Amino acid sequence: MALSRRTSVLCGLFIYCITVTTAAKPCASRPYPGQSVVCVCNATYCDDVTRISMQRGTYVVYTSSAAGQRLSQRIGKLKTNSTFLKRNHTTTLRLNPARTYQKIEGFGGAVTDSAAINWKNLSKPLQRHLINSYYGEKGIGYSLARVPIAGCDFSVRPYAYNELPINDTKLSNFSLSIEDFKYKIPMLKAIMNATKTPLKVVAAAWRVPDWMKEKNNYNKCGQLKKEFKQTYADYLRKFIEQYNAHGVPVWAVSTSNEPIMGFLNLQTGGDCIGWYPKDMGEWIADNLGPTIRNMTQKVLILGVDDQRFALPIWFYAVVKYKPEALKYIDGLAIHFYGDVITPPSILEDVSRSNPDKFLIYTEACNGPTASDKEKVILGSWDRAETYMKNIITDINHNVVGWIDWNLCLNEMGGPNWIKNYVDSPIIVFASRGEFVKQPMFYAMAHVAKFVPRGSKRIEVMEDASKQSQVKQFAVLTPSDTIVVVLCNGANSTASVGIRLGDQQLVLELQPRSFTTVEFHNEVNDSCRARTMIQNVPGRISDVDYDANSISITYKLWNC
Ligand SMILES: *[C@@H]1O[C@H](CO)[C@@H](O)[C@H](O)[C@H]1NC(C)=O
Ligand SMILES: *[C@@H]1O[C@H](CO)[C@@H](O)[C@H](O)[C@H]1NC(C)=O
Ligand SMILES: *[C@@H]1O[C@H](CO)[C@@H](O)[C@H](O)[C@H]1NC(C)=O
Ligand SMILES: *[C@@H]1O[C@H](CO)[C@@H](O)[C@H](O)[C@H]1NC(C)=O
Ligand SMILES: *[C@@H]1O[C@H](CO)[C@@H](O)[C@H](O)[C@H]1NC(C)=O
Ligand SMILES: *[C@@H]1O[C@H](CO)[C@@H](O)[C@H](O)[C@H]1NC(C)=O
Ligand SMILES: *[C@@H]1O[C@H](CO)[C@@H](O)[C@H](O)[C@H]1NC(C)=O
Ligand SMILES: *[C@@H]1O[C@H](CO)[C@@H](O)[C@H](O)[C@H]1NC(C)=O
Ligand SMILES: *[C@@H]1O[C@H](CO)[C@@H](O)[C@H](O)[C@H]1NC(C)=O
Repeated sequence: MALSRRTSVLCGLFIYCITVTTAAKPCASRPYPGQSVVCVCNATYCDDVTRISMQRGTYVVYTSSAAGQRLSQRIGKLKTNSTFLKRNHTTTLRLNPARTYQKIEGFGGAVTDSAAINWKNLSKPLQRHLINSYYGEKGIGYSLARVPIAGCDFSVRPYAYNELPINDTKLSNFSLSIEDFKYKIPMLKAIMNATKTPLKVVAAAWRVPDWMKEKNNYNKCGQLKKEFKQTYADYLRKFIEQYNAHGVPVWAVSTSNEPIMGFLNLQTGGDCIGWYPKDMGEWIADNLGPTIRNMTQKVLILGVDDQRFALPIWFYAVVKYKPEALKYIDGLAIHFYGDVITPPSILEDVSRSNPDKFLIYTEACNGPTASDKEKVILGSWDRAETYMKNIITDINHNVVGWIDWNLCLNEMGGPNWIKNYVDSPIIVFASRGEFVKQPMFYAMAHVAKFVPRGSKRIEVMEDASKQSQVKQFAVLTPSDTIVVVLCNGANSTASVGIRLGDQQLVLELQPRSFTTVEFHNEVNDSCRARTMIQNVPGRISDVDYDANSISITYKLWNC
């Protein structure tokens, strides 16, 4: 029984019982009027999450809800056909693990200057809790991170590397900043120390030295001067080499953060670089691609790194003007802010015509626009639901990973040197010696914890009533379990029937809730099922549970 660390066995002659106390520390919840709850972590207490490994024939359900549940666990028994409840379900899902789609890379958040500064402002025990909450064994399963190359708006000052001397094509004065040495590298190393799945770091540049840009104005975006195209490629390579030398390998580098947004000059304070597609295509083919491919360390190149609406226009334009650029692009990075403008099907359009390029979301947050009056909303379930719905849609359209923006921010949603404050799944209250986990944190948990790297999305055939506000996706994990992640956006309970071959289960999804359910893939697996049956002490006759304990009763085979 791998159910938990603490098992007490009560054994009669004919009945074999196991009582399991789950290892998870529950949420120390604090409600916010009109919102849901946050979970409070202090130096001595922080909630964690355990992924229960279950017996064949059973399933485990994890639930979080606007009403205040956080990853509460329940075990049930899969039903066979004859016992399937023949009643109206809001939604019936038929799972087909024989048909698989993209392989999942993982989930994560960004180690911006601001996130790392907020983290460093906590006591040592709280620093450990924060890292472990995301990346630790009892955390929510993150395995990706994004890091800005020099400063961005989530910094306490504007800066790039090698700003002096100007016109220095040799980058003779390139050195990392105090923010790298004191904050970002220590935070990334703490993450690498905590995570079992090797961390994959994505790097992107916002600000470049002013002398590299056309408009010699610190507060404006501007494009790269043609004479510095190779210098900028070398600049990115130097960053990667130095991070590597300091023990943080970079997995992928993007071709620049938000190249199209770089022309809009929204609240960027110059932390941006604009690119026309033709220039970028030429730069990738002539400079960036050869420079990165020539490194001893293998580093992937991510194109676009901009809003979803930019994906097809931008990508196809870059490639149209400079087809050679295509061979250097490994994946396409997308940000979630403009998703309402274009349908998610454009993701598939691009991946269908470029099956060798993966799609990955590299930035998302709530509260970024001027119409978001409150930047941080403590306890907001709406914002958690925004994350969850976006992730479900993206995964259903071939996306392999999803990286959130700042891992943590302060109570204002900063620091941010141009006051471009936003929300974060973890809000740090350094003076009170605590941080709180927003509902958004649990939206990420419901996916990241249960959909490990190497999982493959599987086909789901859905039969839903028109009123259904249930969204879902399903994967087959590397340990041959099926995981279904569901979001009920309705204010009422939704009944969902899930079928896998002749195994079935029915879930009553609570109003405004996230549900993750996991069970073994029994399809075409009769050999393994037989082996398994030989190893259990008997036939499961009953499963009982409450919030903190599970008791399983077996009838011994020999009785
Ligand atoms: C830390 O949190 C735990 C659980 O909520 C609580 O029992 C304890 O009193 C808190 N400690 C401090 C110093 O606030
Ligand atoms: C299961 O029940 C459905 C009807 O609900 C039926 O069509 C199907 O043949 C049954 N499968 C088995 C293996 O009994
Ligand atoms: C079951 O579904 C049918 C058709 O969708 C509907 O007419 C009927 O009212 C439903 N019954 C219940 C109990 O919800
Ligand atoms: C090198 O950069 C630093 C700032 O990081 C600056 O103070 C110094 O003057 C620069 N050196 C030269 C030779 O420009
Ligand atoms: C830097 O290069 C630009 C041309 O790109 C030139 O106009 C400028 O005078 C140079 N500045 C210095 C200090 O060399
Ligand atoms: C690495 O993790 C271990 C626990 O797994 C911890 O004891 C140690 O302090 C950590 N080291 C760093 C540098 O974070
Ligand atoms: C590749 O690296 C070698 C050795 O470092 C160097 O001589 C060569 O110029 C590089 N080529 C490119 C295209 O960067
Ligand atoms: C760090 O915490 C102190 C209170 O403990 C607070 O005054 C300060 O503003 C915090 N720093 C940042 C960058 O948030
Ligand atoms: C749920 O109820 C709230 C408050 O009554 C309402 O504002 C919201 O629109 C409802 N949501 C849905 C999806 O019906």
